[in-house]
Amino acid sequence: MLPLQGRVALVTGAGRGIGRAIALSLARHGADIAVNYASNDKAAEEVRDEIRAMGRRAEIFKCNIADDTAVHAMGETIKKVFPAIDILVNNAGITRDKTFMKMTHVEWDEVVGVNLKGPVQMTHLYLPQMVERGWGRVINITSVIGQMGNFGQANYAAAKGGLDAFTKSVAREVARKGVTVNCVAPGFIRTDMTAGVPEKALEHIKTITPMGRMGEAEEIAEVVSFLASPSASFVTGQEIGVNGGLYM
Ligand code: NAI
Repeated sequence: MLPLQGRVALVTGAGRGIGRAIALSLARHGADIAVNYASNDKAAEEVRDEIRAMGRRAEIFKCNIADDTAVHAMGETIKKVFPAIDILVNNAGITRDKTFMKMTHVEWDEVVGVNLKGPVQMTHLYLPQMVERGWGRVINITSVIGQMGNFGQANYAAAKGGLDAFTKSVAREVARKGVTVNCVAPGFIRTDMTAGVPEKALEHIKTITPMGRMGEAEEIAEVVSFLASPSASFVTGQEIGVNGGLYM
């Protein structure tokens, strides 16, 4: 029997990149998947079909996770298909990079809205039923930037650092209820998010990363699947770095 057989996982921002790899990995380990995505119907449908081809259940749910009303409406729709969510992976994230003194309130709010408020809303929606059922996993995708800070990413670093602090607090609150709450903090991973980074900057990132390369989305996904599995039953309140040694 696969470790996640009979479990249902909801992954936000699962249409591409790390979220897509997480959805596929969880499905490979036996879970049925609710695929949340923001805009690209075709990409989400492809993820759904790939999961179904593995013999798992999968449905897609379009929703901007920064929008409270939309999140609650999505929750109602999901409930009709998957009455309970066992594993919540808060993966959706955006960047709006600029040095802090040039950063606008809009750029601040957008990044905090998706990277921090979104996971908070999603967790608020699903944590009570996990506690009630006595089993659950919340896995938040943070970033090495939240741990180290970065030039031009004050909004993103604050949101990700805040998400880590949120994780640890909630982990303490539900630790005796069978629910674990953890973060995975990727280093620099080859996805659309980093595709726009200039070649020179990418070379610099490789130079400062002890392993001398960027990571792949699947290398994040496998750590998420481990945290979701029964093998990680004594792991909670942790931020696990998956960064090729960039931050130790
Ligand atoms: P990506 O840009 O390829 O994918 C992000 C996904 O989130 C997209 O499918 C996008 O549509 C979705 N999304 C964005 N805003 C949304 C919203 N409001 N509601 C629902 N979905 C939304 O990025 P990537 O690289 O796959 O990033 C995934 C997560 O990993 C993010 O939280 C990111 O901050 C984090 N991360 C990525 C790193 C990297 O080097 N790629 C490094 C560290 C962390």
